[in-house]
Amino acid sequence: MTLRMELGENGYDIVIERGCLKKAGTLLDLDRKALIVTDDGVPPQYAKTVAGACKAPTVVTIPQGESSKSFPVLEQLLSRMLAAGFSRSDCVCAVGGGVVGDLSALAAALYMRGIDFYNVPTTLLSQADSSIGGKTGIDLDGVKNVVGVFRQPKKVLIDPDVLSTLPPRQIAAGHAEIVKAGLIADAGLFSLYESGEAERDLLTALSRALAVKKAVVEEDEKESGLRRILNFGHTVGHGIESVTGLLHGECVSLGMIPMCAPAVRERLIPVLERLGLPTSVEADPEKVFSALLHDKKAAGGRITAILVEEVGACKQISLSPEALREKIETVVKR
Ligand SMILES: NC(=O)c1ccc[n+]([C@@H]2O[C@H](COP(=O)([O-])OP(=O)(O)OC[C@H]3O[C@@H](n4cnc5c(N)ncnc54)[C@H](O)[C@@H]3O)[C@@H](O)[C@H]2O)c1
Repeated sequence: MTLRMELGENGYDIVIERGCLKKAGTLLDLDRKALIVTDDGVPPQYAKTVAGACKAPTVVTIPQGESSKSFPVLEQLLSRMLAAGFSRSDCVCAVGGGVVGDLSALAAALYMRGIDFYNVPTTLLSQADSSIGGKTGIDLDGVKNVVGVFRQPKKVLIDPDVLSTLPPRQIAAGHAEIVKAGLIADAGLFSLYESGEAERDLLTALSRALAVKKAVVEEDEKESGLRRILNFGHTVGHGIESVTGLLHGECVSLGMIPMCAPAVRERLIPVLERLGLPTSVEADPEKVFSALLHDKKAAGGRITAILVEEVGACKQISLSPEALREKIETVVKR
């Protein structure tokens, strides 16, 4: 199936189809120079397949992990394009998870004030969430995503077949973002998790999560209001991510728990446990709290967060630092 992100002249197709990676040559305009960015944890055949469909590919393999969302690696991508004589009519194509996607989207947005960007996400998290919506970014001084711009891709190719090589822990982390989509806006999607159907029919779960994000981004492309609901679980989650070595999706799993009404939490915890996601973590709550206050969502002394009062519906609330500190302690235990 193909979803269309309706954003006027910034609109684009999101192709969700088993085996679509092999059709990159016809689905993407690769009859030009293309910087194909991947990382050393992504099986190399995926980037090779895209490169094989490209007239003049430059493949760059960056080190895997969040630490590649940095200025030195960004500069490396820009330098490679310059050295290979890229013009404004050439393109960048990410073949990897959210790290490769966020970083290379920013490189594409910056090179010569912006060239075309394609995303071929290869993790469940990036297929269900990060590859659409146009948020690009790198981290700075330990603060996540603090440097970046909004810029939409030209097209996104989601091939669930590439998930066959993804380790189970990464699959579970991806489910966290899909569960998030269900909790904030699609009660039926959440029910698919309660019945176990979501794992049996991943394509349906994936498409429903994308539909939730697409609808929100279409309403509020640059996060001036509604789009903040997608940050559900991320306020506390980012704090935990800065302090622990847990995966992004695992931190979202933890971050959602304190931001639910008790009745929702009772339904959520068994779902997360069954998926193999953490529901509590050993760390210093004080450190999580101070990391969180550095996060970009903390403004004017109070912290904006999203609360799910009933499954499928959420609202924005403003919390005092003390109230947030208490919430952290429901999942972060010394
Ligand atoms: N832009 C957004 O809207 C948005 C939204 C959510 C998260 N993010 C960002 O996404 C990042 C997390 O993304 P992620 O969870 O995809 O992590 P990731 O990009 O670090 O990928 C996880 C690991 O899986 C490996 N991998 C990727 N594809 C594989 C495959 N098919 N088979 C085997 N291994 C594979 C990678 O090498 C890596 O080691 C974070 O930086 C987060 O901030 C961005």
